[in-house]
Order: sequence, then structure tokens, then C-alpha cells
Amino acid sequence: MIDFQNVSFSYGEESSGGGIRNVNLTINTGEFVLLTGESGCGKTTITRLVNGLVPHYYEGNLEGDVLLDGKSVSDTPLYDLAAMVGSVFQNPKSQFFNVDTDSELAFACENLGYPQEDILKRIDRTVSDYHIEDLMGRSVFALSGGEKQKIACASSSVLLPGIMVLDEPSSNLDMAAIDDLRQVLSLWKKQGKTILIAEHRLYYLHDLADRVLYVKDGEIEREYTPAEFDSLSDGTRKEMGLRPFSLSKLKPANQYQAHTAKQMEFQNFCFAYKKREPESLHIPSAELPVGETIAIIGLNGAGKSTLARCICGLEKKCGLLQVDGKTLDWKARLKHCYMVMQDTSHQLFTESVTDEVLLSIDNEDETVVDKNP
Ligand SMILES: Nc1ncnc2c1ncn2[C@@H]1O[C@H](COP(=O)(O)OP(=O)(O)O)[C@@H](O)[C@H]1O
Ligand SMILES: [Mg+2]
Repeated sequence: MIDFQNVSFSYGEESSGGGIRNVNLTINTGEFVLLTGESGCGKTTITRLVNGLVPHYYEGNLEGDVLLDGKSVSDTPLYDLAAMVGSVFQNPKSQFFNVDTDSELAFACENLGYPQEDILKRIDRTVSDYHIEDLMGRSVFALSGGEKQKIACASSSVLLPGIMVLDEPSSNLDMAAIDDLRQVLSLWKKQGKTILIAEHRLYYLHDLADRVLYVKDGEIEREYTPAEFDSLSDGTRKEMGLRPFSLSKLKPANQYQAHTAKQMEFQNFCFAYKKREPESLHIPSAELPVGETIAIIGLNGAGKSTLARCICGLEKKCGLLQVDGKTLDWKARLKHCYMVMQDTSHQLFTESVTDEVLLSIDNEDETVVDKNP
């Protein structure tokens, strides 16, 4: 169904621009293939070569050929590929074209000029297949991360494509939403769709994947059966930069012991967004050790990002924060904190890496950039 024939691709005009090299890969109809490997190894590029974003959207130097059911992706226009390949991305927002869920489901069919009656029939069927009755008629902006991803999965399959390509679809989801995603994947597998998924988080694909491909530096370095992949030792897996394939291998940490007596103290640390009741953050009092790495975990919408925004001073009125006895108001917090966001594109402002680094320092001396790798 999917056939990579000695495919190399580099982005942009220079041949050194990342991408992938010498990929030979045959995926049979109905097979479920997991692509994994460290960031930047080429997973996304491989998925783009299947859904046609490479070379139709991302330009570069392409050698070899990718065939879908015998048809060359390069020679097939994107609108024809849309009926053959459904795509689901990391950030569902990036694939919505409409503001409400009904229009989003109808979009692909309307684009291809299907008759209205046919569109309505397809939508009805999709809504019942994906159990998304509650989500219809809603604004896509008012859906949780998991609900958005469900709409993204549903709308990518309204045209009934035989191939589904997913690029880190679980990135923004909590465990309950990942379970829902797993069920959608399981439905696609039962329907006999051919599935190619790039992921870092592996546990939820444990009983779904038929084959695991490990990508490194733009090449498929190794192929594993699920059993082989499962039996990799913890050491090997870590060396490969991978997370566990089974949840049972996630070991709980030892009892936590702070290495410092210095504390960050929170008192009445509460925050409500305008026009939103009740408070999104409500911490009557808490203490955290200074100088430690602390993970905040919780379900989608639990208040993790709100807490981070309040700590960093991005929200002004949110109670008292003292570090080692000294109160930090929001201005002081802004100065002391740095926040790395989930969607990195929100915090990059310039066109080049050098300009971006220079932007954040007072000293405009370019040699500083090279000194801080
Ligand atoms: N749009 C792009 N333009 C230029 N280079 C890119 C682009 N997207 C990815 N790359 C480069 O291609 C290589 C593979 O990246 P990618 O396929 O995104 O890897 P992964 O998905 O495994 O993190 C990297 O070197 C990356 O910097
Ligand atoms: Mg990627």
C-alpha cells in the first residue's frame, strides 16, 4: 500500500538541510507501523512524504519515489491525495479550517464538491462511529485538547481514506484522552486501514503496532517486531532515547527527599480567568524546595499551565509567593522566571536562530551566541 523506493529528501535548496536519506520501506495494506526515534531524526518528514505535504507543500530536493497503491505521491495533486490519506497532527488546532465542529466534518467533502445528501450521510456515519454526538454544533475553540483531537480524527476520515498518517497525536493529551485516541486507532485497525504513526509516547500503541521502525539521523536504522521491541533492555532503550513500550516498565520514583532547606512558599495562590467561574487555580498554601526540578502533573484543564503562568508573573493578581522569606511581586517574578511553552512557535519572533538568541540578551555581541551552545 505504501512503498518508499530509495527515498532521500532535504528541505530547502541546499542538500545539507536535514530531512531523510535512503529510505526503503514497504507497508502492506492493513498494517500498523510505528515510527519512533529522537527529535529531529526524520519521523515527521517520513509522514509528510506519505500525505504529500512533501513535496507539494514543503519544497526541497527529493530523490526516489513514494508510491501509494502504485501511484506516485509526487505526481498526485494534494486534493486527490486527501481522499487516499487521512492526516492527524500533534496540534489539532493546526488542522482546523472552520470555527464549528459540523463545518469541520463537512469541510473535506465540500472541498471536493460532493453532493449535499452524500455529505450528510457521511457525517452521520462518522458521528456515530466516533461517538461524538455531544461534540456536534460546538465551537472548536471551546473543546478540550482530547475533544479537539477526536474531531481531528473524525474529520480526517470522513472521506474514508485507506491510509491514516499520524504525527505525535498524543502530545497534548492526558491519559483519558489518550485512551480515547487508542480506541479510534483500534477502530481504524479493525476497518483494515493502513496506519503509519510517528510517536515518542509508546505505551498506548503496545497492542496495536504490527511493526516498529527506529529512525536515526534521517535513516531507518532498525526494524522490530513488537515482541523484539518490548524485550529491549532498559539500558538499550534509554541509549536509543526512547520511552517504555509498556506502562509496567515505568518505575515509580523513590520516596522524594529535598536536597535543600530553602523554600518557595505559596499563600492563597488563586487565579480566575475573566468571565470564568470558578477559579482555575486554588492553592491555599504550599511549599516547594528551591533549586529542585519539580514536575506538575494532572488532567487536561486541571490548572497546570495556569500555575506556571502565575509563578512566572504572566498573571498579576494571584496571591503571595515568597522565596526564602522574600516576597516576589509579579514584576520580580517576570524577571526571575523563564517559561518554555508547549507550542514553541508562540515564543519565537525572528527568522534566524542567531537573531532569536540575541533578542533575549542586552549585549548585542554576536560572539556571545557561539559561546553558549
Ligand atoms: N520545514 C523544514 N524546513 C527545513 N528543515 C526541516 C523542516 N522540517 C524538518 N526539518 C529538518 O529535517 C530533519 C528531520 O526533522 P523531522 O522530520 O521534523 O524529525 P522528527 O519528526 O523525527 O523530529 C531535521 O534535521 C529538521 O531540522
Ligand atoms: Mg516530528
